[in-house]
Amino acid sequence: MIIKDSQDIEKLQVIGKIVAQIREAMGAALQPGMSTREVDLIAHKMFKESGARSAPQLTYKFPGATCISVNHHVAHGIPSEKIILKAGDLVNIDVSAEKDGFFADTGASFCVGEASAKRQKLCREGHQILMTTIDQVSAGKPLNIIGKVLHREARKHGYTLVKNLGSHGVGAALHEEPSFIAPYPDPTDRRMLKEGMVITIEPFVSTGAKEVFELGDGWTLATKAGYDTVQYEHTLVITQDKPIIITHP
Ligand code: CO
Ligand code: CO
Repeated sequence: MIIKDSQDIEKLQVIGKIVAQIREAMGAALQPGMSTREVDLIAHKMFKESGARSAPQLTYKFPGATCISVNHHVAHGIPSEKIILKAGDLVNIDVSAEKDGFFADTGASFCVGEASAKRQKLCREGHQILMTTIDQVSAGKPLNIIGKVLHREARKHGYTLVKNLGSHGVGAALHEEPSFIAPYPDPTDRRMLKEGMVITIEPFVSTGAKEVFELGDGWTLATKAGYDTVQYEHTLVITQDKPIIITHP
């Protein structure tokens, strides 16, 4: 969506704060021995209390309040009582929701308990890559600057990016125009960043994976085993200066 007035921003900030608080609460609760279903129940409860509705449930009938993906399962993981977290696991939590007709989308990866130094570094640097990229986008620049900066920053740290998962427009729906914002330089993409445009930026930063494929459950997106991948995602409003980050707790 394109923001029209301050009322739009305020409503977007309400749902942005809700999903960010849920993201942080879920991340802080991760413990070895917990099932991903238990982690999802935190979101279920917080959605109820805040009057928000899970966007993947609302939009795609996703079988969970949030997407929780463990290790080389990197996105759209279905919360399950059969998936039990172990110390050192890498967990991605993606929270998106609607309130009052406005949608926000956020995600983060966390280590369960003590993880390897390599995994902790990937989490830290994956987040840094997102934040550096956010700082570079403003109204009037080409949309493909996002892919250019993500690609440059990931390479600088020696990481790859998953190419078949993109960032996207959000705000009036979970996924809307501009659709699929590539995480790599795409000279054929002539779209421009406009003032008031609401988008996500959500790189999947990896120790070597370049693509995901869907598992037989019809939802979970996985890379080949043997790589570690993290995702960090914020919803932003594009301005003439630095974007306004909507998904702050
Ligand atoms: Co998301
Ligand atoms: Co998203």
